[in-house]
Amino acid sequence: MKTRRPKSWRPAYLLLGACSSCYLLFFIWYDCGVSVQVVPSFSRGSRVGTGLRPPQTRFDTLRLTTEQCEATFPGLTKDLNDTVSLGPFNIQPSGDGGPLQVKIEDGQLFIFQPNRTDALSPELLDAQTATLHQLHRAIITSPAPLPDTIITVNVNDQPFGSAFSYTRPAFRPAPSGSHGPPLTRAFLMPHFSFWTWPLPSIGSVSRVAAALSAMESQVPFRSKDHRLAWRGTMGWNSPHYPGLRENLLRVTEQAKWADVQALHGYGLEAPHNTNASEEFNSMRSNALMIEDFCRYKYVLYTEGITYSGRLQFLQMCRSVLVSPPIAWLQHSTHLIKPLFSSDILILPEPKGWQPYEGVDEAWPVHYPPEEANAVFVSPDWSDLERIVAWLEENPGVAEGIAERQRELFVGKGYLSPAAEVCYWRALIRGWSEAGEYESHDWGDRETVSWELFSLGHDSGKSR
Ligand SMILES: *[C@@H]1O[C@H](CO)[C@@H](O)[C@H](O)[C@H]1NC(C)=O
Ligand SMILES: *[C@@H]1O[C@H](CO)[C@@H](O)[C@H](O)[C@H]1NC(C)=O
Ligand SMILES: *[C@@H]1O[C@H](CO)[C@@H](O)[C@H](O)[C@H]1NC(C)=O
Repeated sequence: MKTRRPKSWRPAYLLLGACSSCYLLFFIWYDCGVSVQVVPSFSRGSRVGTGLRPPQTRFDTLRLTTEQCEATFPGLTKDLNDTVSLGPFNIQPSGDGGPLQVKIEDGQLFIFQPNRTDALSPELLDAQTATLHQLHRAIITSPAPLPDTIITVNVNDQPFGSAFSYTRPAFRPAPSGSHGPPLTRAFLMPHFSFWTWPLPSIGSVSRVAAALSAMESQVPFRSKDHRLAWRGTMGWNSPHYPGLRENLLRVTEQAKWADVQALHGYGLEAPHNTNASEEFNSMRSNALMIEDFCRYKYVLYTEGITYSGRLQFLQMCRSVLVSPPIAWLQHSTHLIKPLFSSDILILPEPKGWQPYEGVDEAWPVHYPPEEANAVFVSPDWSDLERIVAWLEENPGVAEGIAERQRELFVGKGYLSPAAEVCYWRALIRGWSEAGEYESHDWGDRETVSWELFSLGHDSGKSR
């Protein structure tokens, strides 16, 4: 027997219907190229992927076509294109304990049955889930069909063969270090924090973007704390720059120009080794909310064993990003235009520091102060105090560098939801262009649909 819907539901249905039509209409309207009001900064309350609320700016829409993506975010996929142009490679089934593999077929996402002998840590599992959600979001919002392909997704901090990866070394450990991470053909994917990073001091990129828009519109650069800010742990030593963190604490001890502190407790820096429990985090009394770094004029970025997941957050600040030459690339790293301290400081003998072979290859272009959007300093920090003093003496230059960073990553939307899905779709296309596989290697391997997998059903019948 059919049940009848109670009458009182009707208004809700009508409302839902009306909203859905507006939503559809919006996209048709947009896709027809009718200009919509474009606010060139991240709208404050915007949330993505939640359904009924239409995007407020073109940086919130997830439906840009390939042409619109390339016109809106020129250069976004440069590193990806370079990786594709390394030429074809073979996609092999990863063995037991190897990275997860997924299949895109007719615009749907399937997961190959993972056969891990070692369980992923809770943090890695969160990263994996977030990343698969991001991939799925980019697929289902694609205005044009995406190619069928099989993708290896590596959520570890270290790159692994040919795979989607959060990071890849920019150069070998220096100078002429013989061991260290191999240079691999990792296809850089957007960090999982674009979905969310479940740490109390961080959250999602869009949460931080909204918090920052509120703060940055009220605190002009000149009124910010004039010091260089950093928090971190001592535990993560960089293969590229050994002793980096200990030396940092040494040169900034008691310094009036720096607010640099080792975190009480342990963690934060290397995402997957952290203890993410709230209790644990609140024990770190000197931790800063990630957006509060941007209340300082100068924000210091340090890598550790591998990349630091803070980069995309610090890139949204109207603050001067200061870092040793970045040794671990992420998907937005190539947009950095560094001013090298060694190009502007007149240092006593021995004359400053000279970027060495690996750094020169990874960062061949030195930008002048009026074009740069970040500052690279010596990894031994010998010039750190002088560069902060120089920037304080040249406040117009400092503000320009800070402004160009925020203008690119926020004003031009390079870290926006729109740019993220544009990038994912380019990544899928680029990967499938270079990646080749033999169907007989894959034919009898079981898959499970993403919809089932996302509910925790990683075994059983496919589809
Ligand atoms: C990357 O490659 C695509 C496809 O070949 C091309 O359309 C796009 O312009 C390239 N982008 C960059 C930044 O080189
Ligand atoms: C999964 O791993 C176990 C242990 O290494 C192995 O015995 C089994 O054959 C594997 N299963 C598949 C489907 O590869
Ligand atoms: C995380 O921290 C809590 C509280 O200190 C502790 O009980 C727990 O064992 C820690 N977990 C891990 C994986 O270290």
